[in-house]
Amino acid sequence: MPDSGFVQQDFQRRLRNIPSLGMGLSVDVYSPNLFELVNTLKERGLQPGYLEVFKATAAALSTVRQAMPDISLAYHGEGLWITQPDVQASPFFQQDVDEMVLQLNSIQSLWLNHECAMKQMAGYSFGTYVPPLYTRLSAEVVAANIAAVLQMMDRQNRRADGAVPLFLLEMPPLTYFFAGTISIPYFFGLVAGSVPCGLVLDIGHLWTVYRYTTACRRMSLERFVGEFLDEFPLDRVVEIHIAGLACHESIGQSTSGEELPEWIDAHAAPIPSILLTMLEQVLAHSNLVSLRAVALEVDTKPIEMIVGEYAEAVRRFSPVVQQTMARGTSLEHSMEPAPHPISVQVPVCQSDRQQLHDDYTRYAQIISGHAPATGPEWQDAAAEAIGITRYRMVYLPYEILHWGGDLAEMFPQTCRALAERGVCLTEFVAFWFRSPRPLTHSYDFFLLKIERFCEFVTERALDLQGCAQQECDILRQAYAEANEVVEPVVEMERIQ
Ligand SMILES: [Fe+2]
Repeated sequence: MPDSGFVQQDFQRRLRNIPSLGMGLSVDVYSPNLFELVNTLKERGLQPGYLEVFKATAAALSTVRQAMPDISLAYHGEGLWITQPDVQASPFFQQDVDEMVLQLNSIQSLWLNHECAMKQMAGYSFGTYVPPLYTRLSAEVVAANIAAVLQMMDRQNRRADGAVPLFLLEMPPLTYFFAGTISIPYFFGLVAGSVPCGLVLDIGHLWTVYRYTTACRRMSLERFVGEFLDEFPLDRVVEIHIAGLACHESIGQSTSGEELPEWIDAHAAPIPSILLTMLEQVLAHSNLVSLRAVALEVDTKPIEMIVGEYAEAVRRFSPVVQQTMARGTSLEHSMEPAPHPISVQVPVCQSDRQQLHDDYTRYAQIISGHAPATGPEWQDAAAEAIGITRYRMVYLPYEILHWGGDLAEMFPQTCRALAERGVCLTEFVAFWFRSPRPLTHSYDFFLLKIERFCEFVTERALDLQGCAQQECDILRQAYAEANEVVEPVVEMERIQ
């Protein structure tokens, strides 16, 4: 393991390049249209301190950079499964990191933020993020993968001001269950002790940790947040996110008035007031000494709602955010940063990688309902059995059948013909998770759905193969065209 003193010094060195940005927005280029959003904010006299932009095409991102020369931009990455023990051996890893660094450079981003979560593990694919296994070995692997990404980022860095890049690791939400043997704050402490990354603390994600662990049965939310923050490496938190929470469309509102709602992370939904109370508690914590930015995560949210929430958040929190950032920067000047970047390597032996690969195979089988939730990592999930059951029985089937492309709408003729033969679409969920399969391209859930559905139809109704193939071709072509024609959307007037 690298010397934690050097790691801390290198983090300080990277952090020094990041100015205090204050309050901003984490956005998508297209949803809602970023130019329309920024113009509407401007009309109301609001200018975000920065924009954190979600992964898009390189062309779209450089259009954004050119159109908004006066706004600081940061990058929210996607698709690097740094939780996975075999990610560096993936044939797409190098290509995915290269693409990400290209995008970072094209917007002269201040950092690369990436969720500590994955949509693929051990050959199984999911549509939405799944949290990592919270174990000691898993933390080591995350650190080793971040070290590798950081080396590539350093090598290809093209910041005009010569600043070295910063990797920010975001604590992901829980979606009904927790799996692991160590606490979440301790896990992030292990990672931060090994690599010079910063962290993103998402307040809504923190609420889901309270809701979907035994904590909500044992203590008040306020006490939970206090204890969590005392253990979490808060001195590494560079950015705070706050976004909406809502019950998932597949589950609906809880009927009982006594239970906490079954909210999950939902960027399109309003920010509940309880999260603002939690944000107050976080900002008041004395260990929060590296804060540079607080963003409302607003991708997919209606513009009117964004403007209202942002105006209110600035009014309520801007002074305290400024104070918190000032407290940190005065401390930093008294610390000695590393004179030049250190090359951190976190060795993980092959047998440990294999062990974690096996753990993730079991993880995928458990959450897809193909293995019982037993063993030390699953004690918490067993105590809150309703959570894992919700995920397996309702959330996950909905994701495979409807989310990111509704099968009946994607393949109308084939689905009608399957129904006539008595083949129920829910069988596709079991087919999807029946066995692991090697990756054939960089992660794309829509393309994967098309590919897997064709295979399903071939197996279950060979005579429908031609029909399915025809619908597949139409979908693939439309998808490729949609990705091309989406570019002009950002060719709008320069933001004055
Ligand atoms: Fe977030």
